[in-house]
Amino acid sequence: MITGIGLDIVELSRIRRLDEKSSKFRMRILTQREQSEYSKLTKLRKVEFLAGRFTAKEAFSKALGTGIGGACSFQDIEIRKDSKGKPSIFLKQVETGLVSITHSKDFAAAQVLIQTT
Ligand SMILES: CC(C)(COP(=O)(O)OP(=O)(O)OC[C@H]1O[C@@H](n2cnc3c(N)ncnc32)[C@H](O)[C@@H]1OP(=O)(O)O)[C@@H](O)C(=O)NCCC(=O)NCCS
Repeated sequence: MITGIGLDIVELSRIRRLDEKSSKFRMRILTQREQSEYSKLTKLRKVEFLAGRFTAKEAFSKALGTGIGGACSFQDIEIRKDSKGKPSIFLKQVETGLVSITHSKDFAAAQVLIQTT
């Protein structure tokens, strides 16, 4: 059963600015596994990847209905890809949502559906 839906969009320029300032922003947003994926990417892909995870996590928090905060932090949410590159979303290590991420020259956006059995 679908119990939540969330949508979010972010400017790549905003994420690029935050990421260039220091590593603080990406360390707050990305889990350890995601940071390891990020470290292997080219400069352009790093911004797309970070923006995609940021917007997917915000979309997830909307689908949950809590926003980002005490009940659900950026570190509680993880996006993992299968061997073909398809992303899935995990809350505290449990697969919880369906996610789709997109980026263009200027924006990244994501849609999340939360499913419960
Ligand atoms: C819920 C949250 C993700 C909304 O994101 P936002 O960037 O402030 O705003 P957006 O324009 O993307 O979304 C706004 C819409 O979210 C929806 N929304 C707000 N709170 C929500 C909630 N608890 N559940 C579901 N949807 C919610 C509303 O419909 C709102 O639009 P409306 O006020 O016109 O009805 C946000 O409140 C939040 O928790 N942000 C994390 C903040 C943070 O730590 N940022 C790090 C920056 S360094």
